[in-house]
Amino acid sequence: MSRIPQNFIDDLVARADIVEVIGSRVPLKKKGREYAACCPFHHEKSPSFFVSPDKQFYHCFGCGAHGTALGFLMAFERLDFVEAVETLAGQMGLEVPREGGDAPTESPHAPLFAVLEDCARFYQAQLRRTPVAIDYLKRRGVSGDTAATFGLGHAPAGFDTLLTALHADSTTVDQLKRAGMLSEGERGGLYDRFRERIMFPIRDRRGRVIAFGGRVLGDEKPKYLNSPETPLFHKGHELYGLYEARKALGRPDRLIVVEGYMDVVMLAQHGLREAVATLGTAVTREQVDLMFRHTAQVVFCFDGDEAGRRAAWRALESTLPQLRDGLDARFMFLPDGEDPDSLVRKEGAEAFRARISRDALSFDAFLLGELAKQAQDDGSPASRARLKSLALPMIQGMPNGVLKDLVLDALAGRVGVPVDRLRDEPRGAGEARRAPATVAPANTEAGRSTVLRQAILLLLHHPELAGLRPCPPEWAESPVPGLPLLSQLLHLLSARPVSMGVILERFRDSPHAQALDALTRLRPPRDSEDEAIRVPMWHAMLEHISDMHNRKRLHDLTNRPLSELQATERSELIRLQNLRLTKGRK
Ligand code: GTP
Ligand code: MN
Repeated sequence: MSRIPQNFIDDLVARADIVEVIGSRVPLKKKGREYAACCPFHHEKSPSFFVSPDKQFYHCFGCGAHGTALGFLMAFERLDFVEAVETLAGQMGLEVPREGGDAPTESPHAPLFAVLEDCARFYQAQLRRTPVAIDYLKRRGVSGDTAATFGLGHAPAGFDTLLTALHADSTTVDQLKRAGMLSEGERGGLYDRFRERIMFPIRDRRGRVIAFGGRVLGDEKPKYLNSPETPLFHKGHELYGLYEARKALGRPDRLIVVEGYMDVVMLAQHGLREAVATLGTAVTREQVDLMFRHTAQVVFCFDGDEAGRRAAWRALESTLPQLRDGLDARFMFLPDGEDPDSLVRKEGAEAFRARISRDALSFDAFLLGELAKQAQDDGSPASRARLKSLALPMIQGMPNGVLKDLVLDALAGRVGVPVDRLRDEPRGAGEARRAPATVAPANTEAGRSTVLRQAILLLLHHPELAGLRPCPPEWAESPVPGLPLLSQLLHLLSARPVSMGVILERFRDSPHAQALDALTRLRPPRDSEDEAIRVPMWHAMLEHISDMHNRKRLHDLTNRPLSELQATERSELIRLQNLRLTKGRK
């Protein structure tokens, strides 16, 4: 995998005109030094979406959406990071450079991909020589072709089969462990995580194995075992079968979302190649986002029982905020006791397709139908009021567009309120609670100290402050939460003040990304727009922070036995004690 050089991304964000990038997609009006618009990410009547050319940053004070030109492209056009970089570069007539060609050793994850590929090949080979496993798949109607398409395999009995088969040296053992293939016993011994199971490799968008699901051949528990979360595998971000669907169909007209591995495999075998599954979890927003990057229509397919309806509701909640015009989500419930695997085997692909056309509910029908049940809608004014207060916040959470208007219309008809009145209602309290704008960064590293948070915030908005005074080198490893981040920022910005947008992109993959992101939602300290106030404010903050650091260091050093301190630490201790004495006398 080749990388895009960081300095290219820095330059790109620095040179891109965020006003042009956003303005070519959303009509902007100049307002002082910034530009304003009605937010494209939530419904509103008056503009609370602002674009700052100085900061190369956008922010919606209504829903909290915010970010850089790249972030905007990712959110608005549902691109991934690399796609957004390519789009932005293309718009500016730039070629995206890559570092060092396509050498597979470049990604830090490359060894994990390789070891998982080895495991998949081993399991496939094992399947061919394990009659009980072959019989099991035959009994379930899986053809040899299908098993090959999905790379099905078998994990043999035993506790060290992978270690033996891969001739694992200590490096390989470590990789197997990080890839989630080994479990650790009480006394630290490592053994195969998957034993005596049919193995379903889970592949990423490019077809690389990132995890496995394993099914027992009998009735033992647990029926399925999945890989744990690893650096390669985040359950809530992946869809089983997406790679295979795209490989067969290119860009599918629709995706059928089912619950089980076997459902995907058997639907595909019967010619419904567009099936994907979540991995034993509720459908997440990330998964819906992934689906709609690859298709315009999603058909969710759930059991008809109580659990299935609950799961469908969760899917609806993850889907609503992403249903832009042109996209479509449907919900289908299966007859009792059936799953897609059993149905398609029983009635065939055509009947299954017909079932979808006949039975799948449009998302507004499902939404309003379920809410009407919840509100015990019997047509009485009270029940209609309940329905309205349940439905409106959800609909308000949809992106603006024809689709949203249609649902509002449907609700208006149902509760007997003119649609314009519904449209003008302010967003309810329920919705505000969930809006990201109100999420305080209280638990983030930088969020713990108010002064530190304010200093970082001020610096994000006025990067030139970094040049005013040198950053003490010891802050880089300060025990004060948030101070190492401030130190990194000071180093970055004292070399060259860059806009908030560039800073954020630079920290995108850093452990501080979330803390920074949370800070960008806050307004800078009061009166800091005024330079006459800002500069002394900055100096005062840094004095205070310096004191905090010194006090914490002094405390830490004093609490350790003198004999344990290294020479440099001893002289630091003496310096800090002297400092306190001189300060105390002032
Ligand atoms: P079979 O047809 O019996 O092979 O299973 P299925 O594919 O129909 O799966 P089922 O409907 O029983 O469950 C749906 C999905 O939930 C499975 O594909 C798994 O991803 C997950 N799942 C089911 N049972 C378990 C379990 O015991 N543990 C875990 N972690 N996940 C499970
Ligand atoms: Mn099943």
